[in-house]
Amino acid sequence: MRFLTDWRGRWNSLTALAFVAWLTTTVAATTFQQAPPPVPDKPADEQAAGLFVRMCNECHDTSRISSTRRTRADWENQISQMIEQGAKGTDKEFETVFGYLLRTFGKVYVNSAKADEIVAVLTLSQKDADAVVAYRAANGSFADFDALTRVPGIDISKLKARRDAVGF
Ligand code: HEC
Repeated sequence: MRFLTDWRGRWNSLTALAFVAWLTTTVAATTFQQAPPPVPDKPADEQAAGLFVRMCNECHDTSRISSTRRTRADWENQISQMIEQGAKGTDKEFETVFGYLLRTFGKVYVNSAKADEIVAVLTLSQKDADAVVAYRAANGSFADFDALTRVPGIDISKLKARRDAVGF
C-alpha cells in the first residue's frame, strides 16, 4: 500500500493506472514469449509438460525445442547432448520428458518404423501398430495418409489427431 501512496504523490491516479496496465501487458507478453505453454494432449500429459518446462526452459526457450518435430532417435540424441550441455535431472525425469517429447513433438516414418516407435509417437495401441507393420509387409509402402487410414481396424481418430507426426 505504501508503494501505491508514494506513486500517487508523484503521479495522478490516471497515470498510475495507465502505467499498471502497461506493465501488466508487457510482463504478460514477455512471459508468454519466454515460455509458450506446450499444449498437453491429455490430462496425464500435464505433469510431464510441467516437468519439461522446468527441465528444458532454463538455458533456452522451450519454443526452440518444439519448433521441429523429431524422430525417436533424434530426440534420444538431442537429450544426450543436453545432458552433456549440463541439463540436470534423474533418469526417470529424463525418461518422462523423452516420452512427452515423442508424443507431442515426435515424428514417425510409418514406412520404415518398428511397431514400438509407432506406439510411442502416435500413441496407437500395440495391436494397431502391429497391424500397420503387417499391412506394410503385405501391401508395400503407404503412399499417403489416406492409405494409412485403410489399415483394417486402426483407430482413425487417434491417427488423425497426430497427423502432423506421420511421415512416409
Ligand atoms: C544446461 C543448459 C541446457 C538445458 C538445461 C537444456 N538445454 Fe537444450 N540446448 C542447450 C544449448 C547450449 C544448446 C545449443 C547447442 C548448440 O550450440 O547447438 C541447446 C540446444 C537445444 C536444441 C536444439 C535447438 C535447435 O535450434 O536445433 C534442442 C532441441 C534442445 N536444446 C532441447 C533441450 C531439451 C529437450 C531440454 C530438456 C531436457 C534441454 N534442451 C535443456 C543447453 C541446454
